[in-house]
Amino acid sequence: MTKRLGLPNLGLGLGLRNEHFDYILENEPAVDWFEVISENFMDSFGRPRHILKQIADKYPVVMHGVSMSIGSTDPLNFDYLKSLKTLADEVNPAWISDHLCWTGVLTTNSHDLLPLPLNDESLRHVCDRIRQIQDYLERPLVVENPSTYAAFKNSTITEWDFLRLMTEETGCGLLLDVNNVYVSSFNNDFDPVAYINGIPHDNIVQMHLAGHQHMGNYIIDTHDREVTNQVWKLFQMTYQLAPEASILLEWDGNIPPFEVYHAELMKSRKYMDPHFRGSEKEIQHADQEQVSNPLNVVPLELMNKS
Ligand SMILES: [Fe+2]
Repeated sequence: MTKRLGLPNLGLGLGLRNEHFDYILENEPAVDWFEVISENFMDSFGRPRHILKQIADKYPVVMHGVSMSIGSTDPLNFDYLKSLKTLADEVNPAWISDHLCWTGVLTTNSHDLLPLPLNDESLRHVCDRIRQIQDYLERPLVVENPSTYAAFKNSTITEWDFLRLMTEETGCGLLLDVNNVYVSSFNNDFDPVAYINGIPHDNIVQMHLAGHQHMGNYIIDTHDREVTNQVWKLFQMTYQLAPEASILLEWDGNIPPFEVYHAELMKSRKYMDPHFRGSEKEIQHADQEQVSNPLNVVPLELMNKS
């Protein structure tokens, strides 16, 4: 198999957010590429889709979905896949990605990325569905590791081994979310470095970076702030193992002005250098990451999920 499935290194990209549509169209900022949330455009034939086509004419675009529900026991939703394929035919994405998760059952969409047990049975199930999806979309699927808050008693395979076996079985690509590795490792008490070392580096097509919220004894994957120093350091290590992967910074809550979002992305250049240590202030901060909010701000439904 060729490295990264022969897919291009797009460079440093940002998520396309409604708040930035006008800025991007007016200023054509120097961003290498944009990632779009597929569902925000699949069933929209108005202004958002019109704007997406304009942006796709100027920048490489990748389609990132949240509703494929690869891990669900429901039959694959071919109406969803048809809409996805139609959008892909229009905007010609460099690739299509979704998550190793399930989002609902009995046709109900929870609008959440839910974890699944990791064992031989779920591996067979997921691989069978990925093969069907790839056959239908006529392209490799790129699958992202989720952020998780719970593990299953009947899991018998580590997540990094599961991802490796999944790529070997299906030939799919990986979207390695470095922040998700950090969040899940803290919540589920595993070694993030063992995770990074254990995944197949040649299959990493893309990486995600994002900010999270530390709650003391667990972390929530909030995407609403700057990337933490611990995640930057994990990215620095990962980048040396997969230097041709495309990089994308996610920011989905408290979305800042475009210039702030872009400046945060540009920090990744420093951490691509394996010798960069960070400033003394950053190192000190990394050693002393504090609880940023009291526990009682966690939504009840999130507490119940974990
Ligand atoms: Fe992500």
